[in-house]
Amino acid sequence: MAVAATQTWPEDALRLNAICPYYTMFPLDFPLQQLSAKPDATRILDPFCGRGTTLYAARLAGLPSVGIDINPVAVAIAQAKLTQVTPAAVVRLARQILSSGFQGEVPEGEFWQWCYEGETLREIVTLREKLLALNTPTAAMLRAVLLGVLHGPRNKRLPSYLSNQMPRTYASKPAYAVKFWKARGMEPVRIPALDVIARRVDRLLKSAPLAQGGRVYLGDSVETLRGLGRKFDLVVTSPPYYGMRTYVADQWLRSWFLGGPPEVPYSSSGQIARQPNQEAFIQALADVWDATARRCYQGARLAIRFGALPSARTDPERLVLNSIRQAGAGWTVKEVRPAGTSPKRARQAEQFGKAGSAIDEIDVIAELIGSPS
Ligand SMILES: C[S@@+](CC[C@H](N)C(=O)[O-])C[C@H]1O[C@@H](n2cnc3c(N)ncnc32)[C@H](O)[C@@H]1O
Repeated sequence: MAVAATQTWPEDALRLNAICPYYTMFPLDFPLQQLSAKPDATRILDPFCGRGTTLYAARLAGLPSVGIDINPVAVAIAQAKLTQVTPAAVVRLARQILSSGFQGEVPEGEFWQWCYEGETLREIVTLREKLLALNTPTAAMLRAVLLGVLHGPRNKRLPSYLSNQMPRTYASKPAYAVKFWKARGMEPVRIPALDVIARRVDRLLKSAPLAQGGRVYLGDSVETLRGLGRKFDLVVTSPPYYGMRTYVADQWLRSWFLGGPPEVPYSSSGQIARQPNQEAFIQALADVWDATARRCYQGARLAIRFGALPSARTDPERLVLNSIRQAGAGWTVKEVRPAGTSPKRARQAEQFGKAGSAIDEIDVIAELIGSPS
């Protein structure tokens, strides 16, 4: 099926893709272009799926897809991209949970007292506690919706976020945030969780396209790929950029909501970006291309968006081409070009200004001709 770029879809049909921001997400146009270039594709894979942009492009194109990510925040957001539920079902579940009485443990400390009004925090804690034990599609959608409204700016009209003033892309560090709120006398105000959920869910789901099946796995991509039974003919992905921080700590509040500790975690275990040196990084990527090839049909297309920070003093093109060569898995490089800038959307890395502004990004396209050795 040929698919056109985002401009040809009504804005409403694209809203679910923006359910929650995530670091270094690529624009929807990138996987949509790849779907157009591979009109006979039947099943799509993204072994570093992040918030599931590739999966959402597949859904728009009417195709099933599989995503893998090692970060639970990414997986929770990506799961929503494959889920088909009505706004009413999500609101019903939220209401049910909230009317069942308070559950869980309210985290202690100044940050929590300043970030959320007391009753709002008790609602968030109750939703968190109940959702930790629920695995239905409706729960998956409610979880992702809550990740998207957990923190963000305060506005003058109806509130869109549950927190005191905060960025929506990342959660501020507690000491900094408390200082900021105190200095401005910004007390948190009561924001009823159910109202925010109901407004958000209606907007996100009203015109979402039909879900097409597939699955999101939490885990390391090489290990997970080994266990997959089905095969793919299109892979669209973007590994962590070389030299870039992983931003796991910036997502600490969302990680807490998914069961993590109520403070900033500093570990980012399993993250490919944390390899000790370039050789190890190239080998780790090579292992992913090899494991991917084993799960693909001959003639499959692999599209990689990749970049490196100038401070990492490396050429991203050399790095990714070496990783494909080192894989020796049958991937033949067809094209290397600078990453296209979509007219409407910012480039992937620029969405997180501090690291992104000077990033070199490339797209590498390969085809599976031959088998892994
Ligand atoms: C550049 S981001 C992908 C963003 C994605 N294209 C999107 O639109 O959201 C790279 C992702 O790779 C994940 N990752 C890093 N190491 C991994 C590993 N060993 N296995 C699976 N995923 C990994 C990170 O958690 C991150 O979400």
